[in-house]
Amino acid sequence: MSSIKFQSRGKPLLRVPAKKHRIINSIVCGVPIKSHHRVSNVLSRTSGPSFGSVTSISVTTDERPFGDDGNGRFGRFGGKFVPETLMSRLRDLEDELDFVLSDHEFQEELTTALRDYVGRETPLYFAGRLTEHYKTISRTTGDGPEIYLKREDLGHSGSHKMNNALAQAMIARRLGCGRVVVATGAGQHGVATAAACAKLSLECTVFMGTTDIEKQSSHVLSMNLLGAQVTPVKGTFQDASSEAIRNWVGNLETTYYLSGTVVGPHPSPVMVRKFQSVIGKETRRQAIQLWGGKPDVLVACVGSGSNALGLFHEFVGDEDVRLVGVEAAGLGLDSGKHSATLAVGDVGVYHGSMSYLLQDDQGQILRPHSIGVGLEYPGVGPEISFLKETGRVEFYTATDEEALQKNSLEGIIPALEASHALAFLDKLVPILHDGAKVIVNCSGRGDKDIDTLIERGMPSSFS
Ligand SMILES: Cc1ncc(COP(=O)(O)O)c(C=O)c1O
Repeated sequence: MSSIKFQSRGKPLLRVPAKKHRIINSIVCGVPIKSHHRVSNVLSRTSGPSFGSVTSISVTTDERPFGDDGNGRFGRFGGKFVPETLMSRLRDLEDELDFVLSDHEFQEELTTALRDYVGRETPLYFAGRLTEHYKTISRTTGDGPEIYLKREDLGHSGSHKMNNALAQAMIARRLGCGRVVVATGAGQHGVATAAACAKLSLECTVFMGTTDIEKQSSHVLSMNLLGAQVTPVKGTFQDASSEAIRNWVGNLETTYYLSGTVVGPHPSPVMVRKFQSVIGKETRRQAIQLWGGKPDVLVACVGSGSNALGLFHEFVGDEDVRLVGVEAAGLGLDSGKHSATLAVGDVGVYHGSMSYLLQDDQGQILRPHSIGVGLEYPGVGPEISFLKETGRVEFYTATDEEALQKNSLEGIIPALEASHALAFLDKLVPILHDGAKVIVNCSGRGDKDIDTLIERGMPSSFS
């Protein structure tokens, strides 16, 4: 596998207003998209969105562009590095995305489904025992920081992945695509997409690496139960991703590629971030309700960046809110077996956009490793790359061993991916001031990891 490698620094950032929606006639997945349908919706929008009885924060409007040029570029990152045959499909998707973001019918359907099907809003939970635990090891003499968990593990299908899978499945249906293809690593995105496709009556094919199938067998069963076809691909998530993309490219007339994270060619990274940013929007409102202010520190694990951006994006303009991303150091940064792209990677093009990557001197992609299978991807999204380069988000790492030993102490088994974020609290919390409000994104639940935990020996405090 190779990437195009870039070493040079890019131009300074430009802030360009978001592109206006274009009303076009086009044919997507064999179905004509009628301009009159769009015009009527555009017109009905003039009085502003009405959400009826649905309590709503707009789930997708985005008032905080930071480095986003409106065309999928974040500084030197992002773009659309794809063959010409894909360009028209991506443009159609861009147009549809522009449209649904301000279409009140779409927003109302999504808001209702997020509430009644996914179970949003997810709680912002005060972790009393964790807070007590850190009080004893805090360097301060007072009460120490307060720890809160954003409970994405409580959403339908057990992770943040559903927020995006559901919204994109709705777009696939609007585009007239009867079939959805997807790649999954930890299986969370596969299960979420299989469920969303079942709900919306779409055919679903999930590509999954043979190594991951072994580690996440319960998820394979769930996907089958939900009516999806799981197609094994020799290797891991990155191999499954390449295969899913190949399958999509071979079936453009009928098929929608549903990206599970903030990578790929524009508009995928922006779209997934918009659908995940409901996490941060809820968090801001909940923080105001709980303590009347903003959080001091937000912490999230970083695989490719969707749960991190989902939480962070709302706060990127709040300079008094510290944003901390935690990557997987696997067996250690010197071992070569890790997924710490931002810590040791450099810039190149892979899977259609420019970002930080794990690659060798020839631009060959290196195989990532983490005990948290969902963190095993050799890149990160363009926006996350930009947030690293500008220094707005701090990035650190946690090893397999540190994640494995992490017990939430709260009667919650976090996904091993989220355990990386929790593990970093050991280093972070002791240096924070008394009363600091720290929110960790509990991006998923850990039932899927039980086999791995048994195989590796349970953390002592679980027994
Ligand atoms: C529970 C959970 N958290 C985090 C991740 C990492 O992905 P991302 O960085 O896109 O949030 C995954 C990926 O599968 C996951 O399943």
